[in-house]
Amino acid sequence: MQLRLFEPGEFLTLKEASEWASEHLNKKVSTSNISYLINYGRIHKYGENGDAFVSKKELKEYYKSFNGKREVHYKSKLGDDLNWHLSFDQYKEAETTKHVHRLHPYKGKFIPQLVEYFLDNHTDDFKKEVYFKEDDIILDPFCGSGTALVQANELGMHAIGIDISYFNSFIANCKVDDYDIPGIAQEANLITLKLKRFLQQHCTLEFEEELLKELNTFNNKYFPSPEYRYKVNRGQIDENKYGKEKEELFLPIYNKLVKKYDVILTRENSDTFMNKWFFQHVKDEIEFVYSKIKKLRNSNTKDILKLILSRTIRSCRATTHSDLATLVEPISSTYYCSKHGKICKPLFSILKWWETYTKDTIERLSEFNTLRTDTKQLCLTEDSRNIDLIEELKKVDKKFTTLVKKKKINGIFSSPPYVGLIDYHEQHAYAYDLFGFKRRDELEIGPLYKGKGREAKESYVDGISQVLLNMKKYLVKDYNLFLVANDKSNLYPTIAEKAGMKIVQQFKRPVLNRTEKDKGAYSETIFHLKGI
Ligand SMILES: C[S@@+](CC[C@H](N)C(=O)[O-])C[C@H]1O[C@@H](n2cnc3c(N)ncnc32)[C@H](O)[C@@H]1O
Repeated sequence: MQLRLFEPGEFLTLKEASEWASEHLNKKVSTSNISYLINYGRIHKYGENGDAFVSKKELKEYYKSFNGKREVHYKSKLGDDLNWHLSFDQYKEAETTKHVHRLHPYKGKFIPQLVEYFLDNHTDDFKKEVYFKEDDIILDPFCGSGTALVQANELGMHAIGIDISYFNSFIANCKVDDYDIPGIAQEANLITLKLKRFLQQHCTLEFEEELLKELNTFNNKYFPSPEYRYKVNRGQIDENKYGKEKEELFLPIYNKLVKKYDVILTRENSDTFMNKWFFQHVKDEIEFVYSKIKKLRNSNTKDILKLILSRTIRSCRATTHSDLATLVEPISSTYYCSKHGKICKPLFSILKWWETYTKDTIERLSEFNTLRTDTKQLCLTEDSRNIDLIEELKKVDKKFTTLVKKKKINGIFSSPPYVGLIDYHEQHAYAYDLFGFKRRDELEIGPLYKGKGREAKESYVDGISQVLLNMKKYLVKDYNLFLVANDKSNLYPTIAEKAGMKIVQQFKRPVLNRTEKDKGAYSETIFHLKGI
């Protein structure tokens, strides 16, 4: 047997490795970051019987191949005027998704620290002026899931959001609402108890338990962690071939259990989103929980429980883990999951996610409660191109309307949709289907389904400039307007001109840690506009 010689001090415990890496990179690296590298086969785990060591040399090589090089790579692709300060790469994921920002998934939201950067009262080499102060009123005419509203609240500012999509406004308003949190916990617990009783009439939970046990044994045998990943990363295993083979090997075990517990996998039809993307069992549970929520009297509690249910069902669609963002085809059996490097299963009951998200939501609302200021935020569901802001606001909050009329709005911080990038209604089709919210896809500016062609671009330019022209009526004279956009087609100079505004500064920021499949260098610009 060949012996490998190691240098003294080469092996580090996970704790030592995290300390070493933190110093080496000059940023916090936790032991779980190191475990992540092991689990995803980036570095090797040494040691047995519960002892875990990593090699300093391997770790160094890994970092050399990635971190320091990232900035250089981004700048070579996107230009030296890239403002690295705005990458916010010093923040952990838990901070960029802090408290209510993670109450519900939403594709296309900006990170709260970016909003904070422009709204708060600091200055630096790039931001040489303070644009807003406490008690100001901020407007976001493309409010989406309400990031700007939440940050305005934290900073003691009032804010109005507008969004064309009912469900997006619903998420935004749920984030800023003030709740009776013990009341939510009580009602949610009662519903959970009822759901558990409902489940006793079926064998779903027993089926899932036995299936998990079988999967565990199977995965330990064929996909031992972290060795399996390590081999895949080094090309010693052909992942596609091996995964497919093992997927087929597990199918008879799965089919036997389906038969034993009489699980209905077929769908009556696939005419609606709910019918297409949920197993009959799951659909029955969803409808059961929703029927209980509908009976609640406190409308705030009812709304937040609806949001929890929506987040739950999103996680329970019959799809693979890697297709959660872009649904491909519904699945009905276990499958090889390249994301987790093992055989995974679809969900057969909503109970686990309902309980997890209920707990998580209550914790997030409680955390936000400790930071809230006594200011007003709300989102209106209208078309920003032609909304009569004062009239619509009056319908929901007279006192706030008086304030807005008196003080006027100080400025805008917003990220408009871009041409042909996202269908904002479609991404939450399950919620529209279940709650019966009216869809207004045709009023979205620049939706994905209209493409990126010349006509789409022209109508986009018209749409965004119409919004700016309409919003201008409600702004103070010396307003500050910030728009975040990845303006590949250079449309914003024309938009500004059409809206009678001028671009006074552009902040170009790198976008790191993208969760989508496209991991290439990517930047966005924050246009600072003012009146001419
Ligand atoms: C990029 S997203 C905004 C995301 C938001 N900044 C956040 O953090 O959640 C753009 C939003 O513009 C909305 N939108 C599209 N057309 C609109 C219109 N005509 N009027 C108002 N909102 C519109 C979309 O529904 C979408 O939610």
